[in-house]
Amino acid sequence: MELSGPALPARTVAHSQSEMTELILPNDTNTLGNLLGGRLMNFIDLVGAMAAFRHARSHVVTASMEHIDFIAPVHVGDLLILKSSLNRAFRTSMEVGVKVWVENALAGVHHHVASAYLTFVAIDQQGRRVPVPPLQPETEEEMRRFEDAGRRREMREAEARRRRIPKFEASPIKA
Ligand SMILES: CC(C)(COP(=O)(O)OP(=O)(O)OC[C@H]1O[C@@H](n2cnc3c(N)ncnc32)[C@H](O)[C@@H]1OP(=O)(O)O)[C@@H](O)C(=O)NCCC(=O)NCCS
Repeated sequence: MELSGPALPARTVAHSQSEMTELILPNDTNTLGNLLGGRLMNFIDLVGAMAAFRHARSHVVTASMEHIDFIAPVHVGDLLILKSSLNRAFRTSMEVGVKVWVENALAGVHHHVASAYLTFVAIDQQGRRVPVPPLQPETEEEMRRFEDAGRRREMREAEARRRRIPKFEASPIKA
């Protein structure tokens, strides 16, 4: 697969930072009125994809979602605030960090309820992988996230080698 080409100009973290606000309704919750974990993962995926889409300026697919911490429950009627930012861009993939808060609009306070790291891969209209622009971290915090994302990728690759994750292969259906 040919992925080389002219070097793309770097983009900053601020360029693609994204935010989403959701009012939690009964349809999003379990029988106790708490937000379902899967619904929260859906919101996290969406806001993460927004940042990757803005950075890459191409279609993106979710390759992985990892390190999700559900820190505190979210209740029906809560206002959920999700923020995403690029931690690092690699060749065709990007690591995005997502942080989620609940806003108590009456008291005017926020509290942190979840965090996650996701990897998105940029693809073209035909589903072929395409290179992404490098990320230019500017602040100390962005530099730290950039370095941490590199370490997580190394660990992921080492783990994949250890487990030798096979590519998808259709297996015959047994009668
Ligand atoms: C993600 C996907 C495009 C990777 O394609 P692939 O042909 O396996 O490509 P490779 O293994 O060569 O990896 C391509 C890039 O993705 C990264 N990648 C692949 N699997 C990954 C994973 N599980 N976690 C993190 N990064 C991953 C690789 O590190 C590589 O990054 P780089 O180009 O920046 O170096 C492919 O597996 C796919 O299409 N998956 C389904 C995506 C999807 O439908 N998501 C929605 C779920 S319903």
